[in-house]
Amino acid sequence: MTAQVKSKQRVEEHGEVFTNEREVNAMLDMVKQETERIDSRFLEPACGDGNFLSEVLRRKLAVVGERYGKSQLEYERYMFVAVSSIYGVDIMADNVDECRERLYGIAESEYGRRFRDERRVEVLDAIRYLLSKNIQCGDALTLTAADGDPIVFPEWSLVKGSKVSRRDFTFAALLNVSTQAPTFDMLDELEVDRDKLGAAIPKPIKNYPLTSFLEVAKYE
Ligand SMILES: C[S@@+](CC[C@H](N)C(=O)[O-])C[C@H]1O[C@@H](n2cnc3c(N)ncnc32)[C@H](O)[C@@H]1O
Repeated sequence: MTAQVKSKQRVEEHGEVFTNEREVNAMLDMVKQETERIDSRFLEPACGDGNFLSEVLRRKLAVVGERYGKSQLEYERYMFVAVSSIYGVDIMADNVDECRERLYGIAESEYGRRFRDERRVEVLDAIRYLLSKNIQCGDALTLTAADGDPIVFPEWSLVKGSKVSRRDFTFAALLNVSTQAPTFDMLDELEVDRDKLGAAIPKPIKNYPLTSFLEVAKYE
């Protein structure tokens, strides 16, 4: 098990105390069905080095293995889906790097264990790319990335065979908040039903053409 504290200063400045494995599992067991649904989306806004996200990925990959372990292409597609549905934000750059590496390591070793010499580099490159987009360094309170721009997350969907669609959303839109949110008085004046606001569907800021899951890194 890794240490729960990196330094006293980090605990004081960022509340950084990592969750131990037993608690991670107990909490994830509360939503067990979702952790075992390959395409169920998880977003952790203070993901640290990935204690929760790595366990979610392990559980999803166990299901991918059970269902699709006999066909390499199917396994690769659904491993892609499993990784692509996991999102995280942390304010500390080293945590983000560690989280990405950890998730990559889990996917790489599971894939390698099953298919050994048949492993395809382009699949692993696609996984790396997903993690570079889905796990981000930023402030989950202001919803801004380390460079001050809004945090943007891609939504990935496997649509036809090996084709993937990508739509980008700001984190703020996904949370249904605005940096210039109207006050309740303004809403009342406009006769907007406050209860219905939460049901608004976020709009993507960018749509990408369909592409093979092996070629997502070519988007940029
Ligand atoms: C209590 S630790 C939990 C880490 C991880 N979720 C776990 O359970 O092991 C809190 C994490 O939040 C991060 N953090 C603190 N303030 C943040 C902010 N405003 N936005 C994003 N992450 C933040 C810290 O760097 C730290 O990794």
